[in-house]
Amino acid sequence: MGEDRYLVEMKNIHKWFSGVCALRGVDFAVGYGEIVGLVGDNGAGKSTLIKILSGFYPPDEGKIFFEGKEKHFSSPREVRKLGIETIYQEAAMVPKMSIMRNIFMGRELTRLKVGSVGYLDVPRMEEESMKALEGVDLRLRSPHALVDELSGGQRQGVAIARAMYFKSKLVILDEPTNNLSVKESQKVLEFIQELKKQGISSIFISHNLYHVYPVADRIVVLSHGEKIGDFRKEETSIEEITKLMVLP
Ligand SMILES: Nc1ncnc2c1ncn2[C@@H]1O[C@H](COP(=O)(O)OP(=O)(O)OP(=O)(O)O)[C@@H](O)[C@H]1O
Ligand SMILES: [Mg+2]
Repeated sequence: MGEDRYLVEMKNIHKWFSGVCALRGVDFAVGYGEIVGLVGDNGAGKSTLIKILSGFYPPDEGKIFFEGKEKHFSSPREVRKLGIETIYQEAAMVPKMSIMRNIFMGRELTRLKVGSVGYLDVPRMEEESMKALEGVDLRLRSPHALVDELSGGQRQGVAIARAMYFKSKLVILDEPTNNLSVKESQKVLEFIQELKKQGISSIFISHNLYHVYPVADRIVVLSHGEKIGDFRKEETSIEEITKLMVLP
């Protein structure tokens, strides 16, 4: 059994890629409504850890608990159904599709017609898309605008609005502020705080401690596939974490 106070608990996770050890014995947990910052140098194992949590690959060793129960994730789809939504910088959206299509992709609203054939309920999806976007205070022209026309920050906003709309329990953001302007990054940090206000847990991966530190409740540091730090924000400082991160 996992501990009740955690939404997610990963225990003693190991992962090898053809002889290269990407993770060695990592324990990682996320509480209810908690924002966990996951930091570490390039190649530290951050993306690998969250890909295991997203169901992309199984751990070679170790256990995963969700809401206290042990899980053996077999696909990203299954994980998403449980309420774990992963947002990647590039792959979060399909650029050539509208905002509305992106929000409802794979979960389209339909209305039944004669003969039990489902038709897309476009008017409802339009209305609900706008509602979802208002949830993160994102004012966009039309739900039919192409994602291609949005800025990087706005795309993150749409992805977060989608996670909220579908009542995710955990949102994982891998480098959501990469390549964003200062102003856009601030907006993304606000989105992350909005998740917390709604009681949704999140994992925020970033190289930028000045982005992670202000919003995180807890900060976990990985180095060469091992966890070398796990602090509640009040117990640490940007200086302390920086020192840990630059250790050889
Ligand atoms: N699919 C893969 N095949 C082979 N090796 C991999 C694969 N994915 C990751 N690795 C290796 O595992 C280690 C951890 O990589 P990972 O991508 O998890 O690091 P990261 O902390 O996310 O780094 P970054 O900050 O650069 O995104 C690295 O040595 C990487 O080269
Ligand atoms: Mg990475």
